[in-house]
Amino acid sequence: MREIAVFGGSSHPELTAEICAHLRVPQRPVLLKRFANDCLEVQLQSNCRERDVFIIQSLVRPVQENLVELLLMADAARGASAARVNAVIPHYAYARSDKKDAPRISIGGRLVADLLVTAGVDRVLTLNLHSPQVHGFFSVPVDHLHALRELAAHFRQRDLSNAVVVSPDLGYAKSAAAFARRLGLPVAAGAKERMSDTEVRIAAIIGDVAGRDVIVLDDEISRGTTVFELLDRLREQGARSVAVACTHGLFADNALDKLAAADDVTEIVCTNSAPLEAEHPKLTVLSVAPALAEAISRIHNGESVSSLFDH
Ligand code: R5P
Repeated sequence: MREIAVFGGSSHPELTAEICAHLRVPQRPVLLKRFANDCLEVQLQSNCRERDVFIIQSLVRPVQENLVELLLMADAARGASAARVNAVIPHYAYARSDKKDAPRISIGGRLVADLLVTAGVDRVLTLNLHSPQVHGFFSVPVDHLHALRELAAHFRQRDLSNAVVVSPDLGYAKSAAAFARRLGLPVAAGAKERMSDTEVRIAAIIGDVAGRDVIVLDDEISRGTTVFELLDRLREQGARSVAVACTHGLFADNALDKLAAADDVTEIVCTNSAPLEAEHPKLTVLSVAPALAEAISRIHNGESVSSLFDH
């Protein structure tokens, strides 16, 4: 059996440390230098030769810096004769750039996938891509986990007798339905149209939410534009209370405080796929480190990972 070597980029040191603790392996040191011309240089400070190398890096702010760091780390591992280079990307931010929905527009999700492979990445482990087809952008194997198990375990502790799961859009309705099935709940979905990064319209909600305790489920909350628009529709339709759950809690533009300030929002739940810059008494952060560590262990040992991502 080849030795495992786990390195972390600088995007999310707490998550890397937690994953290493679950794996019971040491985190290998990395030296990152920035030159006067602003270029980065990475040195992996532990032997990679014939090792099964895992590089943990979430593509969170500053995304471009963290991406280049990940590319350089993959290149360094390949150049150091790693047997296999695995990129563990808990949040793949460029997944939102997945279609040509305007003329002459770039499709970053595909380009970044190609860049990773060019840099030497042999395999990717990631969590809740914005849309499932982004998986197909990669020409190397991808293990695509979700956080429904963790989120469902959290909500099982609540009184769900009057609850309904609501997806803000039809694109995420399949995941919301899988989540609802885990909790034995009905599901509803918004008819959402995104005009720009800061403007969305939800024309209607398909399904019954009147008088219900709603659990909103989305892949990510960024500016919160989507969830604020959905809250308006839920209020109009007489929802009793709203809990908001997502995998990637990015909370740009003070979205966490703005969301928590709403009286009818009882709680906000996300995972630690991205480092949290703010805290709030209404916020619960669930750890995905155990699931990622389990997946890394299975990949390393050549065992099936599918039971971790089956809906
Ligand atoms: C978009 O379609 C996604 O599913 C999320 O709804 C979106 O990324 C959230 O972004 P924001 O919070 O800025 O609306």
